Amino acid sequence: MTTNQLTIAMPKGRIFEEAYDMLIDAGFDLPKTMDISRKLMLEIPGENIRFILAKPTDVPTYVEHGVADIGIAGKDTLLEQQRKVHELLDLKISNCHIASAGLPQTKLDDIAPRIATKYPNIASAYYREIGEQVEIIALNGSIELAPMIGLADRIVDIVSTGQTLKENGLVEYDYITAVSSRLIANPASYRMKNKRITDLVRRLKKCVK
Ligand code: PRP
Repeated sequence: MTTNQLTIAMPKGRIFEEAYDMLIDAGFDLPKTMDISRKLMLEIPGENIRFILAKPTDVPTYVEHGVADIGIAGKDTLLEQQRKVHELLDLKISNCHIASAGLPQTKLDDIAPRIATKYPNIASAYYREIGEQVEIIALNGSIELAPMIGLADRIVDIVSTGQTLKENGLVEYDYITAVSSRLIANPASYRMKNKRITDLVRRLKKCVK
């Protein structure tokens, strides 16, 4: 049985509010404030929408597997994971960039410089492209620690305000790529619920600033 309910995978945390406000701006009738601190699923019967609240890096997984029809994911996650999803719209929220950074006035003159990152695929692709042979050290967070304690020569990470780099005595070296949140869709859902999804894209597009 097919249902016309739209399941939307939303990133929990700081992107949630911006994305949720955009949906309200686009005219969706959603509760104005929402305490999502403990909730993992929210039903909005009036709009025939269900939200799944996921860890940001898991959103493309839910969408690829079709348990969410659409989702909001960072371009960083999409580039890193290369999942089979359609990218429908750049929402231009949570704008930041991926950069390499390290201790000031240091050169990459080792035989195989060590690069610490949560983005091993993006980092490998970048250094391959610039012809630098590197050793990638995959970490899950607090990446800025790596050069400070001698684990790596450079990090490849998200830079938003630049505050984390500054507070930890690091400087940016290379700007790698721009990042913002994207609306993504499961390819089968996009075909089967095309009218609902294209309507949502059209409405959100008007709210992109
Ligand atoms: C991200 C990123 C940097 C920080 C950059 O980490 O990994 O550490 O934000 O932001 P800034 O330029 O505004 O200081 P996040 O807060 O997502 O935490 P994590 O390291 O646990 O992933």
